[in-house]
Amino acid sequence: MARDKKLIVGNWKMNLNTHEASLYLHTLADKVPVRRDVEVVLAPTLLALQSLSLQVNRRQFKLAVQNLYWRDHGAFTGEVSATQLRGVADYAVIGHSERRHIFHESERDVRQKVQAAIRNHIKPILCIGETARERADGETKEVIHDQLISGLANVTSEELGDITIAYEPVWAIGTGNNALPDNVTEAVKVIRDQIKYLHGPKAANSIRVLYGGSVTADSAADYLALEGIDGLLVGGASLDANAFTAVIEKAHKRAN
Ligand code: 13P
Repeated sequence: MARDKKLIVGNWKMNLNTHEASLYLHTLADKVPVRRDVEVVLAPTLLALQSLSLQVNRRQFKLAVQNLYWRDHGAFTGEVSATQLRGVADYAVIGHSERRHIFHESERDVRQKVQAAIRNHIKPILCIGETARERADGETKEVIHDQLISGLANVTSEELGDITIAYEPVWAIGTGNNALPDNVTEAVKVIRDQIKYLHGPKAANSIRVLYGGSVTADSAADYLALEGIDGLLVGGASLDANAFTAVIEKAHKRAN
C-alpha cells in the first residue's frame, strides 16, 4: 500500500452545514491540483457526506466518515453502519480521541468499528494517543501499545495494508500545544515496533502513520520531514482553505 504517497486528511469535525460544506469543497477544488504523490481526504460531518460524495472528484479528494457503528443493520437508533456507508466513504476515522473521551467509546467499540470498516471495504484510520496526565505519568508507550494491540486485534496481515494509524496525543488536539518532533518520532517508533512484533518487518515498514494535533501550515513541513511519518490529520487548519492548501503543498514538496 501507498507509503510512496503522502496522506493529508482534513477532519472538519462538527463544523459546516451541508451548504457550507459543498461551497467549501468547490473552493478547495479550485485551489488544490490533483497530485500523484499526495492523497487528500476530507472528513465532513455525516450530514454532508452523502451530498459531497456526489460532487467530489475522487481523483482529487477522497472522503472519510468521522465515525460509524459496527453492526451492519438493525435497531440502533441514531447510528449509521459501515454497510450503509459503503461506496460513500473511502475512509473511516475510528477511535478519535473526541469519540473516546467525550462519548466514552471503549477499546471494544473501536476494535469492532475497525473490523466493520474493513468488512465493508472502507479503510480505517485508527486514532491513538495519550492524555496529558498519561504522558506526565510516563505512560505514553503503554497507552500507544495498548490502544494499538486492542484496535488491531483480529486484523490479518493482509488487512493491515488498508489501515492507517494516526498518532494524535490528546493534549495536542485543538490546543495549539502541538507535539515536539521528538515526541512524534518516539511514538512512531513504538507504533512500528509493535506492528513488527505483531505482523513482521514488512508490515511495520508498509503501514501508514500520520501525526495529528494542532497542525498548521507553518508546522506541517516539520512533521512531514520526520522519519516514519506519512502524512497529517488536520483539524482546525483544514477549515481554512488557504491553510489547508498550504499543508497539501508542503506534502507535495516533501514527496519530491
Ligand atoms: P486540531 O488540528 O484542531 O488540533 O485537531 C486535530 C484532530 O483532532 C484531527 O483529527
